[in-house]
Amino acid sequence: MSTTLIDNIGLLVTNNPAVGPLTAERRDAAIVIENGRIAWLGDARDAPDADNRTDAGGRCVIPGFVDSHSHAVFAGDRAEEFEHRMAGHSYGAGGIRSTVAATRAASDESLLAGARRLLAEMRAQGTTTVEIKSGYGLTVTEEERQLRIARHLTNETTYLGAHVVPPEFAGDPAGYVDLVTGPMLAACAPHARWIDAFCEGGAFDVDQARAILTAGRAKGLGARLHAGQLAVSGGVQLAVELQAASVDHCTFLSDADIDALASGSTVATALPAAEFSTRQRYLDARRLLDSGVTMAIATDCNPGSSYTTSMPFCIALAVRNMRMSPAEALWAATAGGAAALHRSDIGMLAIGKRADLAILDAPSYVHLAYRPGVPLVKAVISSDELSSEIAPSSESPRESEDITQH
Ligand code: NIG
Ligand code: FE
Repeated sequence: MSTTLIDNIGLLVTNNPAVGPLTAERRDAAIVIENGRIAWLGDARDAPDADNRTDAGGRCVIPGFVDSHSHAVFAGDRAEEFEHRMAGHSYGAGGIRSTVAATRAASDESLLAGARRLLAEMRAQGTTTVEIKSGYGLTVTEEERQLRIARHLTNETTYLGAHVVPPEFAGDPAGYVDLVTGPMLAACAPHARWIDAFCEGGAFDVDQARAILTAGRAKGLGARLHAGQLAVSGGVQLAVELQAASVDHCTFLSDADIDALASGSTVATALPAAEFSTRQRYLDARRLLDSGVTMAIATDCNPGSSYTTSMPFCIALAVRNMRMSPAEALWAATAGGAAALHRSDIGMLAIGKRADLAILDAPSYVHLAYRPGVPLVKAVISSDELSSEIAPSSESPRESEDITQH
């Protein structure tokens, strides 16, 4: 198995708590990759020989982004709805139903092609792991179909049959919850790692969300939850009570929600591009971070509330509008995302971890927020989780773009 040396790294973000706090940076560093894993990491002057050498040219190297929240399998778009919002209309859960109709009408091939296109955008912007939810099918066969398609693209698949109550059950939400926790769960669980629900007015209340996540856990799925997007509800505390891996949105939080998050193990995932695209107020991350809450940042990529694939854009928004420092935002977009997916093999650059990383065309990660909208990702190296098809993790890393090779 050949080895690759990435040399002349001006600034290396490791996120390794053994090296230092938060981003745990090293200067003038080098990394050796073997078999998709980091085999050596240290000062450039001590770097061992390797079969191939990549010169990072003094640039900054960061762990690949972990996008722990996306809805990347769908058809159609909702540009008109966005235009209305920008003219002053507010976002509501109802728009989801128009994407449900378009998605049901689409072929497997076109759904897969659309998701692949989005994942290619993600990868070009430094994302090396992505989670994908169902939730635009809302029948047994359609939810299962979405998850089967998502499974071609990532191992981090989430069953979100409880996105909204579909039109067929408009008069019978309890009947829909029975379907979601019964036959739909049975069909979807083999294709999913996680279960999620949209706990919000217009979608599912706390008792319904509790029943749904509990049923999923009984089938071996890990719990995650959408809560606090449009108003304070008991959803955040429910997620902590159920020891969900993550509670996502958290735009509206009570003091009791923050206390619960601070005392529990649930990661609070900020989705700043959703605030941007729905013209909502931004989550105050400072309140959470100062209380000791672990935070992630994700894109929430979907055609309604957040049609972006860009983690750098989300980082810039979090720094500008959520009172996160650039280091806190980078950590949340990498190690935080890994924590939100209960993954210890990604989000950190250390010996034995997956060799998933991005080389920035910048001397520092601060530029991700300082130079918003600029394509700063020069190259992405990954052990290929985020590719057109899942490859065995033993496969050698591939570079999306070669920089100086020696
Ligand atoms: O996370 N809030 C629920 N789900 C998505 C929006 C989906 C949509 O509007 O199509 C979200 O923002
Ligand atoms: Fe979402």
